[in-house]
Amino acid sequence: MRVTPWEVEGKIDYNKLIKEFGTKKIGEELLKRMEKLAGELHVLIRRGFFFSHRDLDKVLEDFEKGKGFFLYTGRGPTGDMHLGHILSFELVKWFQKRFGVNLYIAISDDEKFLQKRLSWEEVDKYAKRNIEDIASIGFDEDKTFIFRDSEYIGRVYKLMLKAARKVTFSTAKAVFGFTNETNVGLSFYPIYQIIPTFFEKKRALIPAGIDQDPYWRIQRDIAESLGYYKAAAIHSKFFPPLQGLEGKMSSSNPRTAIWLNDGEEEVKRKIMKYAFSGGKPTIEEHRKYGGDINVDIPYQWLSIFFEEDDKRLEEIARSYTKGEMLSGEIKMLLVEKINNYLKEHRRKKKVVEKKIRKMMYEGKLAREMWEKSFE
Ligand code: TYM
Repeated sequence: MRVTPWEVEGKIDYNKLIKEFGTKKIGEELLKRMEKLAGELHVLIRRGFFFSHRDLDKVLEDFEKGKGFFLYTGRGPTGDMHLGHILSFELVKWFQKRFGVNLYIAISDDEKFLQKRLSWEEVDKYAKRNIEDIASIGFDEDKTFIFRDSEYIGRVYKLMLKAARKVTFSTAKAVFGFTNETNVGLSFYPIYQIIPTFFEKKRALIPAGIDQDPYWRIQRDIAESLGYYKAAAIHSKFFPPLQGLEGKMSSSNPRTAIWLNDGEEEVKRKIMKYAFSGGKPTIEEHRKYGGDINVDIPYQWLSIFFEEDDKRLEEIARSYTKGEMLSGEIKMLLVEKINNYLKEHRRKKKVVEKKIRKMMYEGKLAREMWEKSFE
């Protein structure tokens, strides 16, 4: 297995990752505490897709004491967005709604220009398209600031320099695996990714895939010496690709993904044809031995996010395992759920222009952020 911000490969052992990265599992006690404060638990937390954390207990404590916290997450525009990308954003939406806090969303066009062989025009095109998708998710427009790194740089450059002076190349190399062939731009970029954790003098809570954790390690090394809080994080597993449980759904590998702009027929075609099935090869065998939900992609996707109803999910698991429900049937259940989600997404996207303007420039938080300069 290999997990870095730029590469995820192989069968991932999440308990091993917790040990290797030095994070903590989200345990029962923390779940109960969160449920009490939020009034419910989001499906992505309840079912353990977000499985690991740093200092989530301290975030809840700050909230209980009335100090509060803020949210930060982001997206690197390498292509259009797929189902795996929206999960962090869905969870962020839930946190914002339940806790009423500010949210900062970085669009790291700089990172992707440096890391990928894309022209600036391509990165720019995807940044704009990604922002349309992100702004359609439904954040509080006066409490959300979406910014493109290349555009906001002037407001944070001085603070970036202060932070950069505290991180040696040898640390960055050890954390990110930079080599002599890495361009120098990419070796500086991590500093920008951690800067938004300093946007407020409160703790930042970052919901993101666990591949992003290396950044938070650097942040936590230097934050207090700059007069800020160590960032807190809540880490997700990887939404698996259509082909099975190894690796992740990835924009760099289009075969693995369902895109937010896939039409109804396309969603159906991909799932019917490519979704790895835990069902048996013939109907007779399937009826006799049943399907294996542990490897079945339609079941896994339903259980991660798309079937929120616990009772209904249990019933699906039971009947599929017994062979009453066939592979084609569980696939159709998933097709319907995804198409409903995407239909709603398309509906929201029709009126996104005004939302983008508010969250990038004209809303309450956006205006405050453009008036500021960080030193
Ligand atoms: P990016 O664009 O690669 O991914 C955006 C977010 O989606 C998560 N992600 C996934 N989660 C579950 N399953 C998947 N298959 C999957 N693929 C991607 C990523 O972990 C990430 O949370 N460097 C970042 C952009 C960024 C950022 C941030 C991300 C800037 N600031 C702060 C998180 C928090 C990037 O390239 O993400």
